[in-house]
Amino acid sequence: MVFSIFSIVGRRDCIRTAFRLALEKLHHINKRNMCGIVGYAGGREASEVILKGLQRLEYRGYDSAGMAVLNDGMNIIKVKGKVSELAKLSKKKKLNGNIGIGHTRWATHGEPNEINAHPHTGSHRNFSLVHNGIIENYDVLRRNLEEKGHLFAGESDTEVLAHLIEEIHELSDIDFFQAIQQALLQVKGTYGIAVVHKYHPDRIIVARKGSPLLIGVGEGENFVASDASPIIEYTKKVVYLEDEEMAVITRDGYEVSTLKNVPLTKEVHELAMSLEQIEKGGFPHFMLKEIFEQGDTIADCMRGRLIVHENRIQLGGLEGFVDKLAGARRVIIAACGTSWHSGLVGEYLFEYLAHMSVEVEYASEFRYREQLIDERDVMIVISQSGETADTLAALREAKRRGAMVLGICNVVGSTIARETDAGVYTHAGPEIGVASTKAFTAQVTVLTMMAMLLGRQNKVLSDAMMKELVKELNNIPKKVEEILKDTSVIEEVARLFTYAPNFLYLGRSYNFPVALEGALKLKEISYIHAEGYPAAEMKHGPIALIDEHMPVVVIAATDHTNDKIISNMEEVKARKGRLIAISSNGQSGVGRLAEFNITIPETHDSLTPLLAVIPLQLLAYFIAVNRKCHVDQPRNLAKSVTVE
Ligand code: M6R
Repeated sequence: MVFSIFSIVGRRDCIRTAFRLALEKLHHINKRNMCGIVGYAGGREASEVILKGLQRLEYRGYDSAGMAVLNDGMNIIKVKGKVSELAKLSKKKKLNGNIGIGHTRWATHGEPNEINAHPHTGSHRNFSLVHNGIIENYDVLRRNLEEKGHLFAGESDTEVLAHLIEEIHELSDIDFFQAIQQALLQVKGTYGIAVVHKYHPDRIIVARKGSPLLIGVGEGENFVASDASPIIEYTKKVVYLEDEEMAVITRDGYEVSTLKNVPLTKEVHELAMSLEQIEKGGFPHFMLKEIFEQGDTIADCMRGRLIVHENRIQLGGLEGFVDKLAGARRVIIAACGTSWHSGLVGEYLFEYLAHMSVEVEYASEFRYREQLIDERDVMIVISQSGETADTLAALREAKRRGAMVLGICNVVGSTIARETDAGVYTHAGPEIGVASTKAFTAQVTVLTMMAMLLGRQNKVLSDAMMKELVKELNNIPKKVEEILKDTSVIEEVARLFTYAPNFLYLGRSYNFPVALEGALKLKEISYIHAEGYPAAEMKHGPIALIDEHMPVVVIAATDHTNDKIISNMEEVKARKGRLIAISSNGQSGVGRLAEFNITIPETHDSLTPLLAVIPLQLLAYFIAVNRKCHVDQPRNLAKSVTVE
């Protein structure tokens, strides 16, 4: 029997209550920014703060963990595997002390094992270092150090940095801080580091280049972390370090300088996120919580921007930049993964609503192409985390060539948000699940509002059309909630196809990117091979795959391509494919053809991606749960890819 877990759903509180109740009955539901850093200096037990912080960083993806705590000397523990294992070891070893650093490692150089886990030390074990990023010239440095007698325990690039610092410190009369500075000046690559030294037990030394770090400013205690989630419980005051900046953090304060020793006065920012936002709130997984938040997050994204009674859009973050954008020779959207898919939806939206042509680029490809971009062009970068290395590199390259760069980011104060000329925050709140869900719908919401704004600016959107779009967009949050009220058909489809080895996703027009996104969600969290295609492309190859075992998800929700998509469905059916349709209520012809018809409320064609993606997120989620996969931390994946 199929048991619908969402039969009593209202707004967010009701969802949680319904969910808690349902969970008691649901015995059958079981349940990477890369690497993470937390450091603490204050009056509490450092190990407790660090372990809790590392748990909050687990969503970034990792395969080993470790920490170092200073007391009478320095205690280091490391494990392969989960932070919970580190916590057990910490209890056993009674790691007491009020200052320390911790790390979750996502392996790049050297296999995930205890030896390669951080912290790393030099030969004399006087200090401990944790590191995010990649030391690109580690091989040359390592060979030099080996020639000087250094012995390495593992293969990690970070261990090389530790030995380099030791070598510089021991062979010169400079202090430890300067030794770190000098070592970093010899390093090629990226780093966010935190270091403690047993002979300087009052301080943590930190530095950043290309890998985010922030200082949490408390009272009688201070923190360092690679993002705000580990410290939000203790303080909302943060200082963001920029590239090539260093700091010394003690329990009573912090001092920031450049890598070349120029002292800096940094602005203290107030975090907008709350602790509740980064906890599961009764849901078994962050991903599910985030899927269910989308009515609210889309509404939050539109708040103060969609001015319904005045029939207009106001995007404060773009004030002063709209003319340049509207008149750009070319608009290039650069992003990765799910954010790239939202960029593709943006392409359709800009073309249709603003009559502007847009190129959408994988950020990773853009940076290595022959660059024809200059000051006449505008680049829009899209990133949930605001830290994706390839997106950041594309941004920097476009800026270097004189283009204006606008950002659509979720994480406030992230590197991409800070480096763009202007931009719009998505205000979706922290997204913890590695598989992006609410960030996608918020990005598409921002792109829709941008396209509407540009459509008015370019005088291609009539009053009447604008009115219709404003009204429809305003109704989207309600319609999202409507979809989430009854997930029984999606659960049934998930049950039936839990062990399907392949899936095909087809969509046309605005919903072609949604097909890509549906396939990506399934791949990421359930490890099922899935492909997304423009529906008509099926005939040019993928149709050969269709037989009675192949589930084919067809997004049939746009009116203007209805006839065409019906023909595509006929083609699948004629080859005995298992048709699962996502269609708008009342859409003709679909129900007759599909084995399963998951309906979504009607809306304007251009807004259908915001609704059609929801059942696809849920389908991937339920299948992953049935397959007992790690939904929030899928294997091999990082929440934000901060290495190239
Ligand atoms: O933080 P960003 O939006 O820049 O991240 C881009 C991709 O890494 C990200 O969307 C990735 O594809 C997600 N795992 C998708 O669910």
